[in-house]
Amino acid sequence: MNESTIGSAHVPVLLEEVLQALRPQASGRYLDCTVGGGGHAAALLRASAPDGVVLGCDADPEAIAGVRARLPDDRLILRQAWLDEVAELARALGMIAFDGILIDLGLSSDQLAAPERGFSFMHEGPLDMRFDRSQGLPAWQLIEQMDVQRLSEVLRNYGDVPNARQVAEAIWRARPITTTSQLRDVVTSVVRARSKRIHPATQVFQALRIAVNDELVRLQSALPALIDLLKPGGRIAVIAFHSAEDRIVKEIFRRASRAQAGFGQAEHEPARLRLLTKTPIRPSEAEIARNPRARSARLRVAERLEVTI
Ligand SMILES: C[S@@+](CC[C@H](N)C(=O)[O-])C[C@H]1O[C@@H](n2cnc3c(N)ncnc32)[C@H](O)[C@@H]1O
Repeated sequence: MNESTIGSAHVPVLLEEVLQALRPQASGRYLDCTVGGGGHAAALLRASAPDGVVLGCDADPEAIAGVRARLPDDRLILRQAWLDEVAELARALGMIAFDGILIDLGLSSDQLAAPERGFSFMHEGPLDMRFDRSQGLPAWQLIEQMDVQRLSEVLRNYGDVPNARQVAEAIWRARPITTTSQLRDVVTSVVRARSKRIHPATQVFQALRIAVNDELVRLQSALPALIDLLKPGGRIAVIAFHSAEDRIVKEIFRRASRAQAGFGQAEHEPARLRLLTKTPIRPSEAEIARNPRARSARLRVAERLEVTI
């Protein structure tokens, strides 16, 4: 055990691959947009010693407090922020040219293991699922506000839930659903397990979590501004756990890697990125065996080009 794992149940995913992609070094400046349990941040700090700086952000104040206690280091600046607030926050701190930016999406094992957070159907708890419990609607209230049509879209688009309409109708009929076990039982009453490894409630919980925290919308609006924060030659690495997340990353990277022709009033925009991964990097069998949570991870990496106007 090293300082990156003490007190956190979260094992950083694709750690070696992220370090190879971002090539942290002394004097470098790095941005970890989703600091979580601090595993990647600790490795970035180690590799950029003695004077590299890491700005670590997360929407979850409990994650920030945990990393602050676990990794006291003058070279680590920690701030609570949503992904789509990070670029503005970094600029406000006077940090505008990063050598490396990491986004490791989804949720951490610490969040999953806390019954009171409501992320897991394995623990009895309130159906909350907010990364920041001081704002927004918990999952059970969001369900109350959605009609069956919207609920089935959320299940289909954010969780690839088979029979999304049928599951949405069952959830709708059972409202109010205020606890994790209630939701799990409703799902298992209508969906038969299709695999021994993956419980049918997994995708339903994932879909609701993505909706509660507006994760895809935030990713979509955050990425272009984060790309702008890279210095020429700086690199951005994004780990996605869901096909819809990965599609957004792929599309925004691809667009930024092509020059945009100007039409009419529109300015010609030069390409801003060079893609370093044509297809995403996946975890090895050995990593998945060590850490099954890594199984759906997909890493995409791109490098900032010198932009001359
Ligand atoms: C997979 S964990 C990160 C783990 C971290 N890389 C580590 O090594 O411990 C994902 C983290 O991202 C945060 N997160 C997810 N989506 C977010 C968003 N849209 N804005 C801000 N934080 C987000 C979650 O709160 C969670 O702590």
